[in-house]
Amino acid sequence: MAVVDLETRQRIDLPPPEAAAQGTLMQALRLRRSIREYADRPLDLPVLSSLLWAAFGVNRPQSGQRTAPSAHNWQEIDVHAALPEGLYRYDALAHVLHLAVAGDLRALTGVQEFVGRAPVNLVYVADFARMDGGDEDDLPFLAGADAAVIAQNVYLYAASVGLATVVRGLIDRRALARAMRLRPQQRIVLAQSVGYPVI
Ligand SMILES: Cc1cc2nc3c(=O)[nH]c(=O)nc-3n(C[C@H](O)[C@H](O)[C@H](O)COP(=O)(O)O)c2cc1C
Repeated sequence: MAVVDLETRQRIDLPPPEAAAQGTLMQALRLRRSIREYADRPLDLPVLSSLLWAAFGVNRPQSGQRTAPSAHNWQEIDVHAALPEGLYRYDALAHVLHLAVAGDLRALTGVQEFVGRAPVNLVYVADFARMDGGDEDDLPFLAGADAAVIAQNVYLYAASVGLATVVRGLIDRRALARAMRLRPQQRIVLAQSVGYPVI
């Protein structure tokens, strides 16, 4: 099976997300939980592909709308994936990962010890510049809600295929934003570690 290797590619073409149903939604809800320990191996590429699609992929190609709702359909959350070889931005429309920053930023996506050992750390970044016409006071709350529903999609996908995950708010946002070279209007909302469970 294809794996994410350590060569830093400019772009990672993702295979189509797996279409087959994996258990029922009620089973996934029963199994959903936070897990902070991961096996020491990268996610298989098909799994990473389905994970990103479940998170915030395009489920209606005609309109470009997504697996998670967003306030005003702003779609202001960019999902980034911190992998050992680099930090990638998920382009949902093309279903590919684009290199944003080369190098291993995984440990910087959180402050807890396990974070650097997770094979993938997703980082949910809101672009306030895309939240057109919103009341400025509301923007952090709406971005928080929009990131949280993406995180729950990841929890449910993880539960359905037996992955381990935890969503995280404990982040040194200033340090991570600097490392990610974000613009001032891009705000880090949440991060989420994902890996295979330790058996
Ligand atoms: C917004 C939010 C932020 C969280 N931040 C962290 C975090 O920084 N680190 C962590 O280990 N868990 C974090 N969690 C996970 C919670 O600790 C966890 O969901 C809670 O203990 C309940 O456990 P369960 O998810 O297994 O039901 C966060 C959860 C949410 C919803």
